Amino acid sequence: MSAILQPKGNGYEAWLGYPRPASASSEHSPVTPYHSIIAAEQDEVTGTAVAELVRGLSSLLGSAPLVAADALSAANRPCIAIGTWGGGNPLVEQVFGGDPPRLASPEGYAIRSSEAHSCIAIGADAPAGLLYGAFHLLRLLGTGAPLEALDISSKPANRLRMINQWDNMDGTIERGYAGASIFYEQNRIKDDLQRVEDYARMLASVGLNAISINNVNVFAVETRLITAEMLPDVARVADIFRKYAIRSFLSINFAAPMEIGGLDTADPLDPAVREWWRERAAEIYAAIPDFGGFLVKADSEHRPGPFTYGRDHADGSNMLAEALSPYGGLVIWRCFVYNCKQDWRDRKTDRARAAYDHFTPLDGRFHDNVILQIKNGPMDFQVREPVSPLIGAIPATHQVVEFQIAQEYTGQQRHLCYLVPQWKQVLDFDTLSRGEGSTVKAIADGSLYGRAWGGIAAVSNIGDDPNWTGHLLAQANLYGYGRLAWNPELSAEDIAQEWAQLTFGPMEPVVETVCRMLLDSWSIYESYTAPLGVGWMVNPSHHYGPNVDGYEYSMWGTYHFADCGGIGVDRTTATGTGYAAQYNGSNAERYEVLESCPDELLLFFHHVPYTHKLHSGTSVIQHIYNAHFEGVEQARGLLAQWQELEGRLNEQLYSQVAGRLKEQAEHACEWRDIINTYFWRKSGIPDELGRVIY
Ligand code: GCU
Repeated sequence: MSAILQPKGNGYEAWLGYPRPASASSEHSPVTPYHSIIAAEQDEVTGTAVAELVRGLSSLLGSAPLVAADALSAANRPCIAIGTWGGGNPLVEQVFGGDPPRLASPEGYAIRSSEAHSCIAIGADAPAGLLYGAFHLLRLLGTGAPLEALDISSKPANRLRMINQWDNMDGTIERGYAGASIFYEQNRIKDDLQRVEDYARMLASVGLNAISINNVNVFAVETRLITAEMLPDVARVADIFRKYAIRSFLSINFAAPMEIGGLDTADPLDPAVREWWRERAAEIYAAIPDFGGFLVKADSEHRPGPFTYGRDHADGSNMLAEALSPYGGLVIWRCFVYNCKQDWRDRKTDRARAAYDHFTPLDGRFHDNVILQIKNGPMDFQVREPVSPLIGAIPATHQVVEFQIAQEYTGQQRHLCYLVPQWKQVLDFDTLSRGEGSTVKAIADGSLYGRAWGGIAAVSNIGDDPNWTGHLLAQANLYGYGRLAWNPELSAEDIAQEWAQLTFGPMEPVVETVCRMLLDSWSIYESYTAPLGVGWMVNPSHHYGPNVDGYEYSMWGTYHFADCGGIGVDRTTATGTGYAAQYNGSNAERYEVLESCPDELLLFFHHVPYTHKLHSGTSVIQHIYNAHFEGVEQARGLLAQWQELEGRLNEQLYSQVAGRLKEQAEHACEWRDIINTYFWRKSGIPDELGRVIY
């Protein structure tokens, strides 16, 4: 592979920097012969697609390509032609002939290279497809892929591919680990939204098409985002995202009619409340005609909701859906609903059961523009959880799966944890809800139950840190999330490789090392943190660092029930909370029966003595010791691998990552010492290898 000029700067360009091959510095050996772009259409999104091609080619070529509306001049060849079918670009028509591929999606695209016409053509039904096609071609160029005989067509698997910002208007970000908000400061939307625009590019480049721009916990100031006072500023944000074919949503406060509307109730069946929301919808759509809709967290972690009025979540969401429906708006209603005040003596009430128990009885009652958003696991984005049994259990309801790109419980972007393999596992899980093949991805994309709406949403991991994500390698999670939302069949390996090539240039050994580090990282993080699916052993409130009984809703061990005799939560039907029965068929049996429960989820489903033997042949206690010792060594190994790359990367990028990996190795030791010591004391069983436990 030819030498690549390393990306300059500090990571701000992310995967869109397209570092130029060093050998391309002379005109005689260009990386791409495509020095001109033919584009006939003038609409905003096609304009963005062309601008992206210009940026990418400028970087790869070292000079800006020519942009022309027609292909008359032979000097313009070879060129890139871009246009919708019938959109007036003669080259697109010629390359695809009279029979363009049927893409079956306004977001799909086709790319074809033609030697005869000396061009690569990007065609689509609609401008959004052109934008995604342009980014696809740039990916090919940026990864050094061959360009001859291209014949590609692609459409998104998921209709909704959404990112959720948990940004607050004071500029902080709930569970944000990469600086302050790029959207807000001092309780207003920023005047300078250049970073929002640069972020929109990143999102569109990986195929995302929806964003909610404020935290799901909506407090006093944010409640006013839906009022005339703030809508002009929201419209400025929406204007930016629209250029990138991304629809903007707002999180709303269910009690808004009382908090800002002067009503004395927020009861969803009250006519005055319903009218109030209708008026708000009219006002919002007057300002933002393509507004996406509302994201709602209700009756959860002290947020208001319909329960206060003896109503259920169908009543609550349908009321909002009615208000939005004349404008084509959606209500995305979160299923993260549980009772925070669990009594530790009550071993039958189980937070893991809550979403399923609340929502399955409501199946079939939701309006057509309501979509339920279900966290991937039944608890809360732990390093390891089973798949939420609610996914697939509400066949007559639109559903999207929610992931967390922000690494709240997975190292807070101070530790390396590439989450794409975890998400793949979730998407590939067979729920058996309609017999074999009822995978989460087929439920999310709507195909299994023939639902019109479906998709994936995820909590963003960016802030105003110069490199967006704090840990440069955490950019791979944002990139990978988008790629997977477009195409869940992509492998975690291919996504890692693509990201590394685009970010650092397609250059060995950098790409190989980075990929190996990314792919090993989830299991490394898991091994030195909470064992065997039990989760949670984190410090209260901020959730960073080891603390076995620390989690704020732990209630003296509710989350792991470790005592001198054993550890784990009995979620069986026979003797426990009955949670295992929320799964279908053989999944329920596998989790219910101790012998068949997979090791990595053992303590999620069963309370066992420390001497219990895992399938691996090791006892639970010895596994805890081993994993924590090994995890520390592996964390040190990550640093060592990165150090091998010193001198091959620009110094800023190198040292950003080196600093984080050093911290990770140190903090892994703290995890090891605290967890191992705790369980040694609890169990009274020493490490059979005689290693020092502090
Ligand atoms: C977690 C997280 C909260 C967040 C919540 C949610 O509990 O710690 O900060 O608000 O998830 O998903 O709503």
